[in-house]
Amino acid sequence: MTAVCEVAPRTAPAPQDATPTTLLPLPPMELRALVGPRDDEDFDNPTGAPIYPHLPESAYRFVFDFGCGCGRLARRLIQQRPRPKRYVGIDPHRGMIDWANRHLAPAAPGFEFHHHDVYSPGYAPTNRLRLADHFPADDGCVSLFIAHSVFTHLTLDQTLFYLSELARVLAPDGVAFTSWFFFDNASLPFWSEGPYALYADEKHFSAAVIYDRHWFIEAVRQQGLAVRETKPPQVPGHQWEVWLARRQPGDQDRFPLGPEGAEYVCGATWKPLPVTVPDDPGVIASIKTGSRRGQIPPPQTVRSGGVPPLFEPLAELARLREEIEIHRSARTPLWRRVLDRLRRQLTFSRV
Ligand SMILES: C[S@@+](CC[C@H](N)C(=O)[O-])C[C@H]1O[C@@H](n2cnc3c(N)ncnc32)[C@H](O)[C@@H]1O
Repeated sequence: MTAVCEVAPRTAPAPQDATPTTLLPLPPMELRALVGPRDDEDFDNPTGAPIYPHLPESAYRFVFDFGCGCGRLARRLIQQRPRPKRYVGIDPHRGMIDWANRHLAPAAPGFEFHHHDVYSPGYAPTNRLRLADHFPADDGCVSLFIAHSVFTHLTLDQTLFYLSELARVLAPDGVAFTSWFFFDNASLPFWSEGPYALYADEKHFSAAVIYDRHWFIEAVRQQGLAVRETKPPQVPGHQWEVWLARRQPGDQDRFPLGPEGAEYVCGATWKPLPVTVPDDPGVIASIKTGSRRGQIPPPQTVRSGGVPPLFEPLAELARLREEIEIHRSARTPLWRRVLDRLRRQLTFSRV
């Protein structure tokens, strides 16, 4: 990618305010259900106030919305005054992107929505069988990066890849809003090394992913990023807000570790821990034989190796699809229909 920061829209601009923002359509309920919040107010910004009031106006020159869904934040940004000069939203869910392109993009010059053609068991089971792809943005151009409830759906390798992409596209003065579920691997006496990500659903790995706080901060540092601000969730175990920026010499990460913030990680309870938990951290360390309790994981576990390769059973699916494709072209229409059906069934989808 070049370092030319194109702020002008790539698509033909629509007339300014072609649709009064009060008349902007709201996504249908079935699309809202996919992104979580469903109330009209969650998609609306009637006062035109900046959606992140603490940011300077310059932060909105190029907004990149990773996992933009059906435009919950885009709609509020369109209503915002001043409106971002350029906005690019990407999402693997074709239906949500189509909706946003039809209903939001025409009302807002400089706003684009792109289908991100990567596989997600929960959101995009029929997409191309690959686990990540580069962002459609030039190096160092994005002034505000948003990933709201997105890293909470990505595997550890995907997260590493997309953190490196975030670091690539972020402008020198850019900031990134990210949200995360966290746990403390160090508090679990039965694991000595990792895992650093917990998957809430064994079939749909993207349903909810919870990251170890130590692993996270090390991954952020390795990508040349720094934490500017962290907001713990209002309810223990819910999403943390973490603001990232390019790392400068001498940066101190504003990110709590150890006892600080521990009452908000996943697994924390409203009650204090029972007295059977030893006060002495050394006792837990000795239970976790060979434990690296409290230490940062070895560097090789926090470096992105590029787009993650397909793993089983995805690799197997990809192989079968290729095989079907070869046979399909050589067969009669009836056979083609049978093979098409088989191909459709070779897809993980919510049943
Ligand atoms: C909980 S929704 C949040 C949507 C939006 N950011 C918002 O705040 O309204 C999670 C979004 O992440 C997207 N997503 C899931 N897997 C993804 C992936 N591998 N890459 C990019 N986006 C992904 C989903 O399609 C979905 O739109």
